[in-house]
Amino acid sequence: MKLQAVLFDLDGVITDTAEYHYLAWKQMAENIGIGIDREFNEALKGISRMESLERILIHGNRAQDFTPNQRTVLAQEKNEHYISLLTQLLPEHTYPGIGELLEQLKQEKVPAVLASASKNAPRILTSLGLEEMFQYMVSPDGIPGKPAPDIFLNGAEAVGADPRYCIGIEDAQAGIEAIKAAGMYAVGIGEERVLRIAGANIVYESTAELNLSSLLKAASME
Ligand code: BG6
Ligand code: MG
Repeated sequence: MKLQAVLFDLDGVITDTAEYHYLAWKQMAENIGIGIDREFNEALKGISRMESLERILIHGNRAQDFTPNQRTVLAQEKNEHYISLLTQLLPEHTYPGIGELLEQLKQEKVPAVLASASKNAPRILTSLGLEEMFQYMVSPDGIPGKPAPDIFLNGAEAVGADPRYCIGIEDAQAGIEAIKAAGMYAVGIGEERVLRIAGANIVYESTAELNLSSLLKAASME
């Protein structure tokens, strides 16, 4: 087997926290008179907290109205709301097929790496009871965010994997672009049309369709 590591996005790949991010941003935006919908939210997926806030302010034509300190407060408010939603998270909220894929990787001694832009990633993995399944969790602090390749490259390097023999799994356009920029095989979860345009090599509608042998075949890494 040529495969050296599988790098997982978190929000929207391992569990449904992409929805919680959306709900918390929507509330924060409404509080300052900006409306956002699900279509606009696609452009926030995979993007860091402060960059997401910036995009919302620009979308509402309000970027000039908030100082850096006020932005920090808005981002904190959103994060507190988001963390309150996370208290609902339980192991059974792990998306279908993810636990099985992690088990298969463990059996084959292929490192699983968490490549998320979220500073809340450790607490989410703990709530899902999955922290033992990952060899390495990228810390996004101080690393250029997606669509830059750095989060994925950092994860591969940490486990000694050659990016050409890595598979990245993502639900966001920015995330797929980051995987491709890192020179890895990109698996998209979600809408085929959108993720193919971003560069996905293969797209599954649901994580339930993921399994190691079909991934290896698709990526020619058997
Ligand atoms: C990404 C999400 O995984 O993490 C984004 O797709 C989110 O929606 C980003 O903004 C940062 O997350 P957090 O938890 O650090 O605010
Ligand atoms: Mg995601």
